[in-house]
Amino acid sequence: MIRENQAMIQPLRLGVNIDHVATLRNARGGRHPDPVRAARLAAMAGADGITAHLREDRRHISDEDITRLIGASDVPLNLEMAATAEMTAIALRHRPHAVCVVPERREERTTEGGLNVAGQRKNLEPVIRRLGDAGIRVSLFIEPESAQLEAAVAVGAPVVELHTGAYCEAIGAARDHELARLADAADRAAALGLECHAGHGLGYDTVGAVAALSPIVELNIGHFLMGEALFGGLDGAIRSMRALMDQARA
Ligand code: PXP
Repeated sequence: MIRENQAMIQPLRLGVNIDHVATLRNARGGRHPDPVRAARLAAMAGADGITAHLREDRRHISDEDITRLIGASDVPLNLEMAATAEMTAIALRHRPHAVCVVPERREERTTEGGLNVAGQRKNLEPVIRRLGDAGIRVSLFIEPESAQLEAAVAVGAPVVELHTGAYCEAIGAARDHELARLADAADRAAALGLECHAGHGLGYDTVGAVAALSPIVELNIGHFLMGEALFGGLDGAIRSMRALMDQARA
């Protein structure tokens, strides 16, 4: 029986988002700290992939960072990008392992909500098709809602990433409610045949409950890890996060 349960447990991958290594570097405009060095260290500490968001305004990750990450990192790159012609051309040129399509507004501090997939069907469909044809795994960053999951299937996306921001920010009963939304959405994604990822805002106190949702196979985590790295080092922060994920999944 135990063996059967173990066989059913899907491994949970950790994607480490290195955007804020670039944020710190850009504060002075030099070359230190280097996001590629952080990517290498993350891989050694147990990351299964590196995530980087190339924003329209290049506020953190730069075009050169993407070129260097593709060339130097020995872990798969998940490129976060808006579904624009410019970003699609960049992705097709570099052919990262994966692309996560996110909504983007210039004035936001971070990605504030999920994509309105149904409302953007005309724009998203050709982007997903072109990236998929190039062998890139495409995910859509969405709120944990049935309507968005169904729209993701309709536009041909193989993967969704559920926005965990509302869960991480909520307290008390509201947090339980947000966790239930994530659990329902993860089950619905699996029933629809979508690969399910999650991320945004996760830290040591919130990662366990999300990692315990068995349909989820990848978490993408950045800001908290970089903040923790200031106090105890990046290697230790990633290893601690990895251990919490593995514990919850087991
Ligand atoms: N997933 C997506 C789609 C994101 O946009 C971000 C933030 O760039 C993350 C995950 C990671 O969020 P955080 O930095 O809060 O851990």
